[in-house]
Amino acid sequence: MKTIIEPFRIKSVEPIRMTTRDERRRLLEAAHFNLFGLHADDVIIDLLTDSGTSAMSTKQWAAIMLGDESYAGSPSFLRFEAAVKNLMPFRHVIPTHQGRAAEAILFHLLGGPGKRIPSNTHFDTTRANVEASGADAVDLVIAEGRDPSSRHPFKGNVDLERLEAFLVEHGEAVPCVMLTVTNNAGGGQPVSLANIRAVAALAHKFAKPFIIDGCRFAENAWFIKSREDGQGNRSVVDIVRDMFADADGMTMSAKKDAFANIGGWLALNDDALAERARTRLIQTEGFPTYGGLAGRDLDAIAQGLAEIVDEDYLAYRVRTNEYVCERLEKLGVPLVLPAGGHAVFVDARRWLPQIPPLSYPGQALACALYEEGGIRACEIGTVMFGRAPDGTEKPAAMDLVRLAMPRRVYTQSHADYIVETFGELAARKDTLAGYRIVEEPRALRHFTAKFSPL
Ligand code: F0G
Repeated sequence: MKTIIEPFRIKSVEPIRMTTRDERRRLLEAAHFNLFGLHADDVIIDLLTDSGTSAMSTKQWAAIMLGDESYAGSPSFLRFEAAVKNLMPFRHVIPTHQGRAAEAILFHLLGGPGKRIPSNTHFDTTRANVEASGADAVDLVIAEGRDPSSRHPFKGNVDLERLEAFLVEHGEAVPCVMLTVTNNAGGGQPVSLANIRAVAALAHKFAKPFIIDGCRFAENAWFIKSREDGQGNRSVVDIVRDMFADADGMTMSAKKDAFANIGGWLALNDDALAERARTRLIQTEGFPTYGGLAGRDLDAIAQGLAEIVDEDYLAYRVRTNEYVCERLEKLGVPLVLPAGGHAVFVDARRWLPQIPPLSYPGQALACALYEEGGIRACEIGTVMFGRAPDGTEKPAAMDLVRLAMPRRVYTQSHADYIVETFGELAARKDTLAGYRIVEEPRALRHFTAKFSPL
């Protein structure tokens, strides 16, 4: 088979500033060994996130010029609404400035003390918004979803038995059932169409609205097409429509699978709930035909939605991560497998067994990747999740490092460079040591904590 090439040409470029190892060592120290503290100019390959970092297409830039900035009734909104409804036919589409703003509105309405909201795995902003309302966020992913080496094709699936038992036990306290596609916090792993339908059926059996966090819906649809029985000959667009057909609403970050640099939405079918959501939107985001965005952003999203379901793009997108995973496996780097849709997740705890979880093996690997190759990745482990609200600290379930791939930004030689950097680290990985935290804020410590090497 021929190489699956980047299905685009490069028309406009951003230079990368090259740095030396010595320079990076100094920059890392100045950032207190927290990669969020680096200047992006000092990063060679930035894999911190796939969110808002996509390269827009010529047609998206052209659409930006067509943006209409009217306060009410902008044609940009109508194009945006039509593009969303073409894929996800919800009655009400409410734009927000990004995904977490949609979550904040939803849980302002549905959350509250004593409520319990199940999902496969809540993403951290979703969890934070659920908890800020006083409710509990509960993760019910299948057991395979917590095992990095399990090759289950749909590791984002909900454990249906546990969900049913949960609804029987806590039914009164559950205002809605959530589902994240793909399951970012669990390694960018997909949810099968059968599981989506079964979760919807269970939610409806207990008369609960079923809400999808659809940030990476197109990657999820591609995995359904390539892995689920009976789906291989269907178009991604049809699969996307089926994914949302049984849902009562969705939250979305257009910074992921809409190729936009900003934006999001909350979609709902329930007229009364949508009315309350729009009222809250006006208080916090803006009028319902722009919701915290410029008209041009809405046009960029509308065009991005037409492009994200392109199957040549999705084949290349998923192949990039598989390619990196295959080569890292050959180096003996333990990974979350199969490759995720938007990122490669490295199991730092297993690769660096000399570093105990409370000395942050993920942080150690992330810092080493920067020092060795100028690559910025993100710890998803004990630094991010280890501090409980009661102030105690304990190891997270896993210590992972996420190499999130911006969309349409890097080429295969960038991917090769990433692998080569791991190759160099592999030769000296036993000498890597952990870190301790010398200063941390009260919550969300991973963004600003200061570290010192052990
Ligand atoms: N849901 C999921 C599954 C996400 O991955 C994110 C963001 C959000 C909701 C919130 O969207 O950023 O537009 O407010 N994830 C980014 C990441 C930040 O790096 O994974 P947002």
